[in-house]
Amino acid sequence: MDYFNYQSDGQLWAEDVALAELATQYGTPLYVYSRATLERHWHAFDHAVATHPHLICYAVKANSNLGVLNVLARLGSGFDIVSLGELERVLAAGGDPAKVVFSGVGKTALEMQRALELGIKCFNVESEPELDRLNHVAGQLGKIAPISLRINPDVDANTHPYISTGLRDNKFGIARERALEVYQLAQQLPHLNVVGMDCHIGSQLTEVKPFIDATERLLALVDELKSVGIEIKHLDLGGGLGVTYNDEQPPLPAEYATALLSRLVAYPELELIFEPGRAIAANAGVLLTKVEFLKHTQYKNFAIVDAAMNDLIRPTLYSAWQDIVPVIPRQGEPQCYDLVGPICETGDFIGKDRHLCLAPNDLLAVRSAGAYGFVMASNYNSRPRVAEVMVDGEQVHLVRARETLEQLWQHEYLVE
Ligand code: LLP
Repeated sequence: MDYFNYQSDGQLWAEDVALAELATQYGTPLYVYSRATLERHWHAFDHAVATHPHLICYAVKANSNLGVLNVLARLGSGFDIVSLGELERVLAAGGDPAKVVFSGVGKTALEMQRALELGIKCFNVESEPELDRLNHVAGQLGKIAPISLRINPDVDANTHPYISTGLRDNKFGIARERALEVYQLAQQLPHLNVVGMDCHIGSQLTEVKPFIDATERLLALVDELKSVGIEIKHLDLGGGLGVTYNDEQPPLPAEYATALLSRLVAYPELELIFEPGRAIAANAGVLLTKVEFLKHTQYKNFAIVDAAMNDLIRPTLYSAWQDIVPVIPRQGEPQCYDLVGPICETGDFIGKDRHLCLAPNDLLAVRSAGAYGFVMASNYNSRPRVAEVMVDGEQVHLVRARETLEQLWQHEYLVE
């Protein structure tokens, strides 16, 4: 459930603010987030596992705007990060480093150093060379690094191949068969402290079964480790819970958690960590865009809108479908449109074959744009990145100003 609804005036609102007003005030394209929706989704996870020790570590990559992170930090959220940039964002947003887990296959020595200085909760290590590097960096600082090994459980998440991460031939994690050996190696390294086990099998999963399969495989490994004297204190199951973009019916956090908790009865002390990104942020945001021109050809109708693939790349990159709805619906016969941006690429589309009744200057809302939207934006075609606002009841916070043209080349130089 989210807080983007049509009100009695027939218009689409974000909480208690009409989207049309935001377009007037801040211009388009514009990302609009709803604080109440973010909070609702975070609480849905937190409540779902309330009976078990747990930590919700929001996956910063899904939407790393400081305003978004700040809203979640105020709830006491932990954070899953993958870079120094994400770590510094969490700090700048008031997040607690002691609740940070650090994922990713390519952590640099500098990133490790900063994370150690700040005292993060855990490094989710993905390979043996990474163990060695972390041990070395921690030794130099006179610190002990808390670690988890990311296990590749080899389960099929049944999702788009680009966002499926738990299969044998993916670059992520350590193969299940090698896990015991690598844990024993980690145990021997003097500047590491083995505390956890993690996995992340993919994103936009719409069924519980792959999560359960992965959990069972990991729990078997937890038992095996215990028998050789290695105590695992937390199990981090990653993110990946899907959302409804169209007609998908992913499990609710409560269903997901209930199914998992039924497997954890024998492990009352094993802390559970989740790293949800999309499930918290996707439906907490829309991308507002304006129709520039309608172009009718012999074969197709195009609505040329002011948002483009540089602002929202998911449709182009993953053939992702996101709902596109009018902000102020108009009467009339809908026509079938491809909604395309101004970028010089055939792949520049936001949606295809949409039945809409449109006129130039109409405002459209691209739904489910709060996750992997702005964060994947680029300046392609020298388009400044758009503004972001956070609605909170009747209040509106500008949480990122629209880039200016000068900012496009502020780090560039003439040749002399
Ligand atoms: N933890 C790890 C280690 C991850 O790699 C990811 C996402 C997450 C957590 C969060 O997953 P979520 O709950 O959001 O599914 N750009 C793609 C999604 C890439 C996801 C990458 N990893 C998209 O737009 O669909």
